Amino acid sequence: PQPASEIVEIVFTAEAIARRIGTVAQGIAEARLERLLVVAILKGSFVFAADLLRAMHRTGLSPEVDFLSLASYREATTSSGRVDIVRDIETDVAGRNVLVVDDILESGRTLAFARDLIAARGAERVLTCVLLDKPVERAVPIAADFTAFECPDEFVVGYGMDLAHRFRELPFVGRLVRTP
Ligand code: IMP
Ligand code: MG
Repeated sequence: PQPASEIVEIVFTAEAIARRIGTVAQGIAEARLERLLVVAILKGSFVFAADLLRAMHRTGLSPEVDFLSLASYREATTSSGRVDIVRDIETDVAGRNVLVVDDILESGRTLAFARDLIAARGAERVLTCVLLDKPVERAVPIAADFTAFECPDEFVVGYGMDLAHRFRELPFVGRLVRTP
């Protein structure tokens, strides 16, 4: 159970997220990507991907969906970060347009790993979409093609994102505040 001293302060409300996702979906629709496959990176993007897909439907898109479960190891030095495949996608991406969806772009390792993996398998085009972009120095140079929000450089939780497996269920994005 959550200690009484831990409060989650809202950074992006559920309503603001929903509005912004509608706009992002419009932008994706305007890119006119034929035979689009959405690849959601698990676990963090599952809530975002679910809402984004339904917003895409409302713009008239009918993408296919698959899931790529990745584990990234955050180490003390920026050069030692490693990304492993925990569960691979099942779809053949050769010749497909693919939209990789993730929760947060920070060092860039996770998103670049997914993008390069799918490109190496012969995808026609790989675009990326993130809920949050943290304005920090990247370990791997990458910019997302679609971003919902610029995120303060703080640890955030909720809307699918966790701290030690907690807080994924929150309908908003928040930061943890510890009160004495
Ligand atoms: P990157 O590989 O350094 O770009 O990190 C991206 C991944 O780290 C995301 O998919 C998240 O799972 C995780 N991450 C980075 N910052 C946060 C945060 O503030 N809260 C929760 N997860 C985070
Ligand atoms: Mg993640």
